[in-house]
Amino acid sequence: MAEYILDVKGLKTFYRTRLKENVYAVDGVDLHLKEGRVLGIAGESGCGKSTLATSLMGFYFPPLHYGSGQIVLDGTDIMSIPYETLRKNFLGTEIAYIPQAAMNALNQTRKVSKFVVDILKEHRPDLSKEQMLNLAREKFEFLNLPERVLSAYPSELSGGMKQRTVIALSTLLNPKVLIADEPSSALDVSSQKIVISMLKKMMKEGYVKSMIFITHELPLLRHVADDIVVMYAGELVEEGTTEQVIFDPIHPYTHALMGSIIVPEDGMKAHKLTAIPGAPPNLKRVPPGCRFRDRCAYAREECARDARVGITRFGPENSRYHRCVFSEEQLRAWYGEEKRRFGIGGGAK
Ligand SMILES: Nc1ncnc2c1ncn2[C@@H]1O[C@H](COP(=O)(O)OP(=O)(O)OP(=O)(O)O)[C@@H](O)[C@H]1O
Ligand code: SF4
Ligand SMILES: [Mg+2]
Repeated sequence: MAEYILDVKGLKTFYRTRLKENVYAVDGVDLHLKEGRVLGIAGESGCGKSTLATSLMGFYFPPLHYGSGQIVLDGTDIMSIPYETLRKNFLGTEIAYIPQAAMNALNQTRKVSKFVVDILKEHRPDLSKEQMLNLAREKFEFLNLPERVLSAYPSELSGGMKQRTVIALSTLLNPKVLIADEPSSALDVSSQKIVISMLKKMMKEGYVKSMIFITHELPLLRHVADDIVVMYAGELVEEGTTEQVIFDPIHPYTHALMGSIIVPEDGMKAHKLTAIPGAPPNLKRVPPGCRFRDRCAYAREECARDARVGITRFGPENSRYHRCVFSEEQLRAWYGEEKRRFGIGGGAK
């Protein structure tokens, strides 16, 4: 068995606009997912999370284009196999994707059973219609969806039910890797909790072997992910375990995202999300140097020195990394000083 169920190296993908400009939304991403793990991807709106998610499927439609890099799924480099093989033998079975806002994109004029049959006809033409529906019934029951949902139209379902239906449809074939793009963002708090617990249950029961969970709310990942990567302007800027990234963020961007208000007694209660002033750079023309420079409270001349800031590993067995010209120790010293002076942590200007 490969060490990683999903092993991505140097992935670059971009949009080509009608005006023939390129938007470099995924710009050199390395990502590793182990079987049995949930990897959270967090970052502000427009940083490239959804583009990364679609890019990981290895299936590109204009305006999105593949630039370079490898996507190795359970030992197979999916960029080296023909599209038709990828579509038939990998998508939905080995890797599945729940697109952002999928529940609102369902065709309202088709019954849920029709979606089930359409999906399974593609991958399991050997099954009879009844067998296909039975496969769906099993998933629906697992996700606490009543059987009547099968004969309902999407418009007849509540938001929470619609999202669970989308999850059931995406996992009909028990994919090894499930990518869920903001699966709970459009839901109320109680439906959010249900959807998250259902996804975790699917992992626990082995319906899905590993998962990538995308959100713009970093603290949400505390209850979902084992590991976290933080994305900024098309690049990953920090990686660590969930505990490390949420409670001990090192990169100034992550530190700013988690900007703590009061010294926390019991963790998250005192952590409040702070908006980071300013905006990320235009991904058509990213400036040289650190991409967070214009918004970073610790920016110095050296942050613009290199064309691109590389990653630096640190932590136990070098298991963590950040993308900053300053060392972990230097950043910690600045954070400590700030806390002593103001009683808070910052990260942004
Ligand atoms: N079809 C497209 N054509 C051109 N540019 C696009 C297209 N779709 C997205 N982009 C651009 O690519 C960048 C990354 O967008 P993406 O949707 O991946 O971000 P995101 O992190 O998922 O944001 P959000 O949190 O809002 O979902 C943005 O600059 C966006 O404007
Ligand atoms: S490289 Fe400089 S600007 Fe970028 S995060 Fe580090 S300190 Fe801030
Ligand atoms: Mg998105």
